Amino acid sequence: MSKPPTIDRIAEYQGKRVVIRGWLYNKRHSGKIWFLLIRDGTGIIQGTVSKKDVDEETFEICSRVTMESSLQIEGVVRRDERAPGGYEIQIERIEIVQIAREYPIAKKEHGVGFLMAHRHLWLRSKKQVAIARIRAEVVRSIRDFFDRNGFLLVDAPILTPTSVEGTTTLFPVEYFDRKVYLTQSGQLYNEAAAAAFGRVYCFGPTFRAEKSKTRRHLTEFWMVEPEVAFIDLDGLIELAEELIVSIVTRVLEERRRELEILERDLTHLEKVKRPLPRISYDEAVKLVQQQNPDFKWSDDFGGRDMTIISEQFDLPFTIHHFPVSTKAFYMKVDRKRAELSESFDCYAPEGYGEIIGGGMREDDYDRLLKRIEEEGLPKGVYDWYLDLRRYGSFPHGGFGLGLERTVAWICGIHHLRETIAFPRLIDHVSP
Ligand code: 4AD
Ligand code: MG
Repeated sequence: MSKPPTIDRIAEYQGKRVVIRGWLYNKRHSGKIWFLLIRDGTGIIQGTVSKKDVDEETFEICSRVTMESSLQIEGVVRRDERAPGGYEIQIERIEIVQIAREYPIAKKEHGVGFLMAHRHLWLRSKKQVAIARIRAEVVRSIRDFFDRNGFLLVDAPILTPTSVEGTTTLFPVEYFDRKVYLTQSGQLYNEAAAAAFGRVYCFGPTFRAEKSKTRRHLTEFWMVEPEVAFIDLDGLIELAEELIVSIVTRVLEERRRELEILERDLTHLEKVKRPLPRISYDEAVKLVQQQNPDFKWSDDFGGRDMTIISEQFDLPFTIHHFPVSTKAFYMKVDRKRAELSESFDCYAPEGYGEIIGGGMREDDYDRLLKRIEEEGLPKGVYDWYLDLRRYGSFPHGGFGLGLERTVAWICGIHHLRETIAFPRLIDHVSP
């Protein structure tokens, strides 16, 4: 397929006449020259219109055309050190597609409420475009990582009768004459797929009715979940670390310009290499107790506790072997210390919090059944899951990496709402 000229590849057209279709990003004039900033989705380029070179109508269009009007320009590409991006187009013709009405997002600062209500337009801004491109790169790097390492992509269903991560965050859906839920995680299906294919991953949207408003929680978020047969906890943590390093390396290679637009401090990302720090839950508790004496062994780490721990590290780090009581029903119990689970979480540095949760799965039929009963889960819908422990049970484990949390950290974005085109939050479903 031959590609029409686009702004990202404008250098290839130096000295040539091109047609660019897009939108007016901004404009200014100085005497007899108009400077139009045009964006086409691949970038922004400056177009100059000199009164002496164009007919009267073309020059007049420049004063009339409004921000975000759609248009087509034709002109010659010139190298110009002073132009943003190093190239500009000497415009000869302008065709207006539509003159935009007064654009609601001005250059001035807007409140977040206003921007969220105009998310469909906010997406066009430079910073949002940069984030979206980095997100797409992260997705690509994740797929490449698993495809390259012998994992088979097996998609998990969205509609499911089973809870995975607790029953308090389920979104119920009417399914003909019964009730099902939007999936919280593809893990249980992944486990079945791992028994069929060895190494698998699923990658899709997951849903949690998170009732609190925090900068780290969406109600709809994307998760990539690998699941591996015949692995151990060490092997899993190694896989998680390799994945994190591989994502960061790729974004640094391919999306440096976008990181610069976001004014990301690259020194934090450039040092992300293995070995990455690992500590046990026991060790983490000791760290926390030095500053928060009220913290008890078996507590979950709160926001303040996580800050205490993460201050120790300037790299992504892992905490492993959490108490059984803090983890979900499927987590394998450590056979040497029954109060511990073979679990781990990975955290991003700089206060971004947990990006990965995972561990080994309980592969003993009786123990798993007991846990399902203890949690008061409806046994019937887990019967197929128990089959995996009836027919060739096997040591296996996996994890889930939250896409939006990973993108927020890599981009240095404070709130998850900017890491997905159309975020879903407790108080936000439109646009
Ligand atoms: O730690 P979680 O709950 O683990 C699981 O769902 C496992 N079943 C995954 C597995 O082992 N296959 O979630 C995994 C990750 C978190 O570390 C976090 O990055 C992200 O998913 N996450 C969220 N991201 C945005 N908004 C939310 N409400 C999230 N909840 C979890
Ligand atoms: Mg978790």
